[in-house]
Amino acid sequence: MSCLRSHVGLPVAAGVLLIGLPYSISLAAQWLYGWPNKPGYKKYTEALKPRRIYCLARAVLESLKYLQYGRLYFRWKSWYKDDENSKHYAKGISYGRRGNKLDLYYSPKVDHAKAPLVVFIYGGAWGSGDRAIYCLLARQMAEELNATVVCPDYSTYPKSNVLGMVQDIADCLIWVKASAQKFNFDQDNIIFIGHSAGAHLCSLTTLFLIETREELFIEASKQQDISRCVKGVIGLSGVYNILDHYEHEEMRGIEYVSTMHKAMNGVQNFSYYSPTHVLNTFSEDKLKRVPPFALLHGTDDIIVPAKSSTKFSELLSSLSLPVSLYLLPRVDHTEMATDLMAPDRPLYNAIYSCIKQEYTKFIKKS
Ligand SMILES: *[C@@H]1O[C@H](CO)[C@@H](O)[C@H](O)[C@H]1NC(C)=O
Ligand SMILES: *[C@@H]1O[C@H](CO)[C@@H](O)[C@H](O)[C@H]1NC(C)=O
Repeated sequence: MSCLRSHVGLPVAAGVLLIGLPYSISLAAQWLYGWPNKPGYKKYTEALKPRRIYCLARAVLESLKYLQYGRLYFRWKSWYKDDENSKHYAKGISYGRRGNKLDLYYSPKVDHAKAPLVVFIYGGAWGSGDRAIYCLLARQMAEELNATVVCPDYSTYPKSNVLGMVQDIADCLIWVKASAQKFNFDQDNIIFIGHSAGAHLCSLTTLFLIETREELFIEASKQQDISRCVKGVIGLSGVYNILDHYEHEEMRGIEYVSTMHKAMNGVQNFSYYSPTHVLNTFSEDKLKRVPPFALLHGTDDIIVPAKSSTKFSELLSSLSLPVSLYLLPRVDHTEMATDLMAPDRPLYNAIYSCIKQEYTKFIKKS
């Protein structure tokens, strides 16, 4: 009897594992984050395709890796709450047209008077993120770079779309120009550092400002003024071509659950919001005003493949624009940011040494 039961049990268990589990995970993910945007029943046909089910389940299971950051989570939670630390930073300053907030961090070691300013833009697939999560990163960055670091929140989807995010980041630069006296930093020496979607937004904002785009709803003279102060852009594991990234999402089966296509106002606007495409439309005169770029990317990144940075670097070079590319072996997508949060993280020194090298060049040139 027990022998028979175990014979029945095995296929049932295998069935649950190989079919039930992936189907439940994938359907839950699609229910929560969005079905394929095909009309009527077709969306369910698309949603139930075995390839999509298995790819999605894999992507969800891969995200369980984030559990390893539990300890880091408690560290930033307690650091951010601890008033003792507040002598090194100013928290919750309102800026810009949408009333978003930013935090500002001083370098705890050097006299911060007239220190250069780093604007750090976090990632989160254009749909999530919170400046509090990056308190440890911003604090360490201020110390490592002898800089004052500003970390703003911006209106992610569904609060806003990509244009709103670019407007927010441009507003943040306007705040920087207006607040330099009060907070005592060098407003003419600004470096953008962004991770993932944040690297995309830093690049796109820089290029839109060079073009003095009307859709930013910022006076042209002001746009030119702030764009002149950006001395360099450091992109960490960034997306620079939205269409390429969409194809990568399709391959992973996550294109409909991802916020990207919604944040970009649909597939037809992908090139419009791709730094690679915008650069290709630039005149000689505008190209001259593009600041130097440094692109860092982990070769173990499956969320945004390193090819994204390689291709952007090739494009910048082909336009005779200054760019440095660092492909870091055995670094994945999240480590590129989490390992900048504490000196005991395994890749802390490796990543900071690349950032410092480029940062010093950018600051010196100006
Ligand atoms: C920061 O300042 C310290 C002490 O003055 C110096 O040794 C270090 O090289 C500086 N780092 C950078 C990135 O400028
Ligand atoms: C997106 O594309 C559509 C169709 O081409 C266009 O009408 C619309 O203005 C675009 N929106 C933005 C914000 O780029």
